[in-house]
Amino acid sequence: MQISLKPCKDVTTVTTDCLMLIVDRSLNAEIAKAVDSASGNTISQLIKRGDFNGDVAETLYLPSVSGIKAQRLLLIGNGNKAELKDSEFDKVINAGIKEAAKAGCKDISIMLDATSVTDRKSSWQYQRISQLIITASYRYTATLSNPKSALSIHRVTLQGPNTESNRNIVQSGASIGKGINIARNLGDLPGNICTPNHLASEARALGRKYDSVTVSVLDEKKMSQLGMHSLLSVTAGTDQPARLIVIEHKGGKKTDKPHVLVGKGITFDTGGISLKPGAKMDEMKYDMCGAASVVGTMNAIAEMGLKVNAVGIIAAAENMPNGNATKPGDVVKSMSGQTIEVLNTDAEGRLVLCDALTYAGKFKPASVIDIATLTGACVVALGKHASGLFSNSDEFAAELLEQGKLAQDRAWHMPLWDDYQQQLDSNFADIANIGGPEAGSVTAACFLSRFTKDYRWAHLDIAGAAWNSGANKGATGRPVALLCQYLASKVGK
Ligand code: BES
Ligand code: MN
Ligand code: ZN
Repeated sequence: MQISLKPCKDVTTVTTDCLMLIVDRSLNAEIAKAVDSASGNTISQLIKRGDFNGDVAETLYLPSVSGIKAQRLLLIGNGNKAELKDSEFDKVINAGIKEAAKAGCKDISIMLDATSVTDRKSSWQYQRISQLIITASYRYTATLSNPKSALSIHRVTLQGPNTESNRNIVQSGASIGKGINIARNLGDLPGNICTPNHLASEARALGRKYDSVTVSVLDEKKMSQLGMHSLLSVTAGTDQPARLIVIEHKGGKKTDKPHVLVGKGITFDTGGISLKPGAKMDEMKYDMCGAASVVGTMNAIAEMGLKVNAVGIIAAAENMPNGNATKPGDVVKSMSGQTIEVLNTDAEGRLVLCDALTYAGKFKPASVIDIATLTGACVVALGKHASGLFSNSDEFAAELLEQGKLAQDRAWHMPLWDDYQQQLDSNFADIANIGGPEAGSVTAACFLSRFTKDYRWAHLDIAGAAWNSGANKGATGRPVALLCQYLASKVGK
């Protein structure tokens, strides 16, 4: 995909497969007026006739228009108001991409002079379009004999000043889009392909691709030496070996403390001995979407050459119920020294994460964010629109909420009050791994909080946000955009 910027002097001479005009029904924008008069008032007549009302993301496709060099014209409504909401802007752009792709256009030109988005600069629009066009090109191909054909669009020209800073913004939008696609692809791969070892080899490939990135992979022997018996208790019932994957991006100064991302990488979650019901169990291949978001984000920030130090840690394992599997009531000792009573082997995410979070402390982090498809309760609470956000610092939580809004990848702040902690009391260990039926996503976060006392920490429960069910079943690549935006904000972007 080639995405470039160009100011528009005379719209009638723009040569492109598809000229996209974002307009209102009174054709207030100069460029729309110019096209209208060059075409003998074609547009205003269509509007008068009622063929186009200018509603948000409404499209009118005109396969040929006289008086302009562009092959086709696509009108996209801006809602007939001075400013679009940021979410509406996405709808407008996605509608445009969809129509142009349906018509098989290879090259599109987007005129933005009539768009203004509340609280967002025009450079935000460039970054957004760039990200959206890349994510629109995502196709799952790995296991299909006849995959969907590729997106026809290869070249996008944005109306805007071709400055270095705008070019960088377009580039970072593309890198984030690519990171999202990487996360989606890993999520969509089936559990028999995307194993802990597969995640490790994807991570190693990152290390080969970027000079700033180094990767190390800890095997079970090493994890046992480190005392990660909680993580290892999850992998006890499978033949697939567990891996702790560490991806370091050194973009900052040597002395800059790193920001650490910890991803839940359960490549398949059967529930273990506390076996899950059969319906929809296939979706538990997505239980590594936290890990996938770490890989996608690390790829994006390395490609952008972001001047931060960041570490991605992935706790990769498969949760299966063979004869060696951990049983309900078993007690294990975590790397932190705390003992855990495993009352339910299906609450395995927290068991792998707690040891990875203890390991994260070794990096003397500036911040730690774990990302996990942790609880069905979070899906009940928030659905798919927001990731559940928990933190031991309200200030940190507020920062992440803000970055999530900017990135159109929102989270919602959930409580982590001490009142909930007692639900994890156990008669036989320092802590139980489940907290009963009430507030399941909160008690899961409370469990993790016992292992994150030494640093600024946030937990993102992405059980709802990470994939779509039903006819559109597939990974979403969230929260790569939020994580990239957060890391970019550390260097003032
Ligand atoms: N991976 C699941 C959480 C999940 C469930 C994500 C459904 C998305 C959709 C997690 O390992 C799990 O099984 N959690 C249990 C916890 C319970 C046993 C306390 C759950 O949510 O039921
Ligand atoms: Mn589970
Ligand atoms: Zn799980």
